[in-house]
Amino acid sequence: MSTLQVRILGSAAGGGSPQWNCNCTVCTAVRRGDAGTQSRMQSSLAIRSGDGPWLLVNASPDVHRQVELMPAEHRTTGGRSSPFAGVLLTDAEIDHASGLLLLRESTEPLQVFATAQAYGALTSDWPLVTMLSDWCGVDWRELTAGTSTRLDGFDLTADCFTTGEDAPRYQRAAGGPGTSIGITFRSAGGQTVTYCPTIETWSDELRTRLAASDLVLVDGTFWGATELADEGLGSRSARDMGHVPLGGADGTAAQLAALGTRAVVVHINNTNRILLETSAERAALEALDITVAHDGLLLEIT
Ligand code: MLT
Ligand code: MN
Ligand code: ZN
Repeated sequence: MSTLQVRILGSAAGGGSPQWNCNCTVCTAVRRGDAGTQSRMQSSLAIRSGDGPWLLVNASPDVHRQVELMPAEHRTTGGRSSPFAGVLLTDAEIDHASGLLLLRESTEPLQVFATAQAYGALTSDWPLVTMLSDWCGVDWRELTAGTSTRLDGFDLTADCFTTGEDAPRYQRAAGGPGTSIGITFRSAGGQTVTYCPTIETWSDELRTRLAASDLVLVDGTFWGATELADEGLGSRSARDMGHVPLGGADGTAAQLAALGTRAVVVHINNTNRILLETSAERAALEALDITVAHDGLLLEIT
């Protein structure tokens, strides 16, 4: 039987939860181990079609611990092996790409699927890929926003589309189409999962795409439009940071509820109160049948 499986390896946004230097309400509760809280690693997942190989989607700074969330049966015996046959990057942000350096011991060149924009950033402003040439090297497979690519060896097709044009802070050149992408993964059996850890804006095209998917994994970075400022943690708004907040009349939660598709929120910032199981924000999502991802969550479409 053909299935599409997704394992959430990190459900938090950059910094993880708790974030090392953060004393916000949620980080404090998680650090204390309050009931209804759990820690979360940084944004990453693994996907596979049927019993094919796993593809790592985003390489976070927590990748070593995330590898250990993969069941032992996916590790071959003898010598060295990886439970992942390749890595796909949705952007070149620090939380999504720095794990590449931590995979440098690979015995084969890392197969990396990324747009020319993300790959360009990782060979210029932040030359991780260039550095890796002195270890395992990188075998780059280009993804292009607006096109569909067969992921060789994975029995998966990736339809790529731009979800954000906001360049990483370290990047000198301006961003543009392809800077942050979402992917609709399609299995050999026709099952579809759409993953977009960044949603800068909702469009009819995005709504149509998500409504046509069997499962969607979407940007749950912030609940409130001014969440960081409200916690006294800086002045940048959710939209300044390239993320539509979950809450509010035109927020992502309302958008997802209108679609009626099975939805899971991922890339959750440590300040977001949906991380507290007893919060009003968490209850609001649950009332809309929207799932809050946790690390290790296995999602299966049959
Ligand atoms: C984002 O998701 O907006 C970025 O990862 C933020 C950052 O780490 O600078
Ligand atoms: Mn991020
Ligand atoms: Zn925090």
